[in-house]
Amino acid sequence: MKISPLVRGSRLHLSFSLALALGSCDSSAPPPETGDPSGGLADALAKTLSQACPMAAPGDEQARQSCADALTIDPLLRERMSDPFDWGGQKSTDTLDMDKSNRTDFNPRIYRRLYLSTFMFTGEHSVQKAGDTVIIRLPVRFRNQLDPGSFPYPFWHSADKWTSYETTRELLFFLRAGKLVGALRSADRDPSRPHRDMKWDGRWTWEDSSGQQPRVTLYSWAFSAGNPYVADLDTAYRTLERALRKETCLACHSPDNFAKMNPLELFSYPNQALSGRKQLVAILDANLMPPATPGTKPGLADDGGRAEIIDLARKFQELGDQALAFEGEPHP
Ligand code: HEC
Repeated sequence: MKISPLVRGSRLHLSFSLALALGSCDSSAPPPETGDPSGGLADALAKTLSQACPMAAPGDEQARQSCADALTIDPLLRERMSDPFDWGGQKSTDTLDMDKSNRTDFNPRIYRRLYLSTFMFTGEHSVQKAGDTVIIRLPVRFRNQLDPGSFPYPFWHSADKWTSYETTRELLFFLRAGKLVGALRSADRDPSRPHRDMKWDGRWTWEDSSGQQPRVTLYSWAFSAGNPYVADLDTAYRTLERALRKETCLACHSPDNFAKMNPLELFSYPNQALSGRKQLVAILDANLMPPATPGTKPGLADDGGRAEIIDLARKFQELGDQALAFEGEPHP
């Protein structure tokens, strides 16, 4: 794999204005060569993210909320992010193939509102090319002092996962054929960043005086207050979730990813489950899950029970489509 040297954002500007100045001497010259393989997207992305989510105190809930609100409706992200959008941790500093790192699939709106908003951006960036992929690197700081229910799930269930969020230096965005297909926390970490000691009590969800937690996983947080589909979508998800749990689906499709699937399809939280809503129907229709084990066939043994779950999955998919469409989200 041939990798071009890093092109720093500041140098980019310099070479761009230089090329413009030179180009203006000769009107027949070809368009200025900026040397930016992202075609200007890196610059626009860095600007968008640092304006929406500037540096703030790491426990500033208001700053996180306004960052999340801005990213949710941002036209650039809406247009350029693919569905599903992959998110995970870079396997090692020299792993530039996104698919070689562990990832989870997300609906793009859910990713930028829940996950991307837990970071603050400096506005700096650099660009790198790896094969047919352009990697946009953005220095970040993680908001490690938010309320536990403001995180998309208890990242601290694993000490390494939590510190990877706390100490990651950059987010790497992967651009392929004009689309941002995913992002990773850089394996390049800054161990000197402040650490917050978090103890996991074994609960993925919990309830407190303000209701169900983590609150950011609820449809009421992901969608606008006037979205008429939220209540029905929540009921459809809860009913489906109970059925999936009974069939052991959630033993694997949960954050601890016991079966090490990659990308992970996460069905154990309302918002996160939106990403897999179409595949759920397809997989149940084809009766391919749970996967085969030595001596058993894949799928559910009881066709009547399976038909009932397919109905629930279909209802969930329809309401998810409607809720997203109401918000103006593009969906295939
Ligand atoms: C023992 C672990 C395990 C259990 C239990 C399990 N799955 Fe899976 N599931 C996987 C793995 C691993 C994959 C990744 C694809 C593969 O390897 O076949 C996957 C993939 C999927 C996908 C995504 C397919 C795609 O094309 O993206 C769906 C949807 C799915 N499972 C639904 C279910 C449902 C519904 C159940 C319960 C009826 C279930 N799974 C139970 C391990 C499991």
